[in-house]
This record gives sequence, C-alpha cells and structure tokens, in this order.
Amino acid sequence: MRYQITVNTRIVIMTTCCITGWFLGQFLAHVLPPKHIIAVVKDIKQVSVIKPKAVPPPKRQKCNRWSTCPNGEFAFQIMSGGGTKRFPKICFEDYIILGEMNAGRGINIAAVNASSGKAIDVATFDMWSGDNSEALVKFIQKIPSSSYVLMATFDEGSTNLKPQAKKEIENLGSTLINKIAFRANWIFLGAKGVTIPSEFKKEKILFANQKWNKYPGWPSEIQIDGCVGRR
Ligand SMILES: *[C@@H]1O[C@H](CO)[C@@H](O)[C@H](O)[C@H]1NC(C)=O
Repeated sequence: MRYQITVNTRIVIMTTCCITGWFLGQFLAHVLPPKHIIAVVKDIKQVSVIKPKAVPPPKRQKCNRWSTCPNGEFAFQIMSGGGTKRFPKICFEDYIILGEMNAGRGINIAAVNASSGKAIDVATFDMWSGDNSEALVKFIQKIPSSSYVLMATFDEGSTNLKPQAKKEIENLGSTLINKIAFRANWIFLGAKGVTIPSEFKKEKILFANQKWNKYPGWPSEIQIDGCVGRR
C-alpha cells in the first residue's frame, strides 16, 4: 500500500511538471517577441562553432619584402634575369629603378645616392655583342662617392667582360665577379664610399648547368633583398 502511494505520487509530480513546462513554453512563446528567440538561437550557434583565429594576412612591404626596414635604412631587392625573356629587376626604397622598361642583355647597373636613396644613374652593358667593357668601367668610375651600386645580369653577362671591368667591380666589394661564366646569373649590391657590413649577404651567383637549369640553356633567376643604412 505504502509502495502504491509512492508510485502514484511520482506520477502526479511528473505529470504536473510536464503540464507546467508545456504551459510555460506556450506562455513564453506568446510573451517573447520572435526575434528574441532567434537571437538566443544565434548565440547558441556562435558558442558552438569554434571560429579559427583571424590572423591578418602578411602585408607586402617596400620592394615586395615581407618585413619593414628599421628607421634610417633603405629597403632593396635585386633580381637577375631568367633566360632571355624574364627581365631583371632592381628596386630601391620601393622604386623600380630597373626593370622591363630599361633592362638589357648583359650587365645592368643602378647607382643610388646613399644619403637620399634616390637613383643617380642606370645603364645596361651588352656583354655578348659589341665591346662595352670599357664603357662599363667609365660608368662605374663616374659614380660619385657615397653611393650604392646595384647590379644584375640578364641573359649573358660574361663573354666580353674584361679583367679591368672585373677589377672595377671588385673595388665596389664584389668577390664573385671573377667567377662569372657563360649564362651565369649574378647579382650584387656594391658601394662606393660606404661600408657594407662584411657579414651582409650582398652577392649571389648561379651557373648554367643542364642538371639544374630552369630554362633550356639558362639557370633560374636569383634574388637578394634586405635593408641598407642611410648615409
Ligand atoms: C645625395 O643626396 C644628398 C641629400 O639629398 C645631397 O645633399 C647630395 O648632393 C646628393 N649627392 C649626389 C652625388 O647627388
């Protein structure tokens, strides 16, 4: 008997709860404007969806670099040509000093004022046809002191490059110009009257070799970039 009552009591409580719950639901549905319910549902969705953390996309900086230069330094980028169709590029403080518009086969040179960062002179010397080694020497000698001198090969930069010209380029700080060979890509950041720290990566060379050539007969383009001090 006692047992019976307990079960009945439970049934009564449960039924009461169900009915109360149902009425409460009905009541709230009438009282609350629908948008509140939608808002609540949205909130639940937002909680349950774990959003990936928004990482801002990396921004291209001066001369297409991924990082900015410290105050008082210039950004630069030098890219060699690639085969006979991809032009070399020289960028300084976000200005394309040399590119498709003025580059040519051979050795391309841009001189920049190390104090203002402005281009002083740009020239290209064909090292395959004609005798332009002497003109290259004269061009370098004319560059005023306190300049950065940026160089990049395009297509072929070695055939008619004479020892005197190599010596002149060495005077600007090059150590690899003596190794230049047929269709090798070579890029260099030199200076006149400005000291570039010795640990600075300022020169690169890539020889033509069937094993790794990117273009038939020519190696892939090479590049250096970085920041240099304002003088
Ligand atoms: C380099 O720039 C500085 C500062 O603008 C200027 O005073 C100087 O005359 C320039 N030098 C050359 C050689 O143009």
